[in-house]
Amino acid sequence: MAKASHPIISIAVDGPVGAGKSTLCDALAARLGILHLDTGAMYRAVGLYALDNGISSDDGPALDALMGSGAAKIGVSFEGGKQKTWLNGLDVTSRLREEAVGAAASAVSRFPSVRRELVRAQQEIAKSQSLIIDGRDIGTVVLPDAKVKIFLTATPEARARRRHAQLLAAGKDADYGTILEDLVKRDRQDQSRECDPLRPAGDAVILDTSGLDFDESLQKMLEIVESKHGI
Ligand code: DC
Repeated sequence: MAKASHPIISIAVDGPVGAGKSTLCDALAARLGILHLDTGAMYRAVGLYALDNGISSDDGPALDALMGSGAAKIGVSFEGGKQKTWLNGLDVTSRLREEAVGAAASAVSRFPSVRRELVRAQQEIAKSQSLIIDGRDIGTVVLPDAKVKIFLTATPEARARRRHAQLLAAGKDADYGTILEDLVKRDRQDQSRECDPLRPAGDAVILDTSGLDFDESLQKMLEIVESKHGI
């Protein structure tokens, strides 16, 4: 097989919910001219399948059976640089940001059968193209050999404030206290699960964006990529 003329660049970005991974990775990918794979969307698609099909996202044996049966086929495609996430041939991208879907995703992502299947799919996608991949276990499990690993974080209060402002700007009802409570609960769930918990890889650069605005955060990420990759 012919060798690719450009080396594949893999940038692993992990961090807790609300740290701004999605928007920052989108902007970073655009600046570098590569694609951004949002792996949370794949866990959300499994959570959505569970919700739509009456499977409790706490029912490990039912989720094991689901993943073993291949009844929930998750795929991604990129159109004009934007990710679309597919569930059994349907584009479910627009449904994935619902709060209930996020909660179901966090719950189903505890189970090794779910993780095994999605990690395998993510590694397959990353084999053939340069990507920024964001998630919780990218630097530790999905791409342990990635040259650039960034752990993006911010205090729970800073993350809750941003989420609150985003919801208000979108004209939605939002209560800061509830958002903070949900976020702390989600952190606990993601960090304390036995299988591939959220934690920085030993060789990740930790970037705390609590005191930074969007442009400053993006600039810092570019500097990290440049210092590790020389691009
Ligand atoms: O990044 P997000 O909020 O869209 O992710 C939704 C949930 O999926 C999150 O609570 C934890 C889980 N997740 C994971 O366990 N591993 C990943 N690589 C990405 C997301």
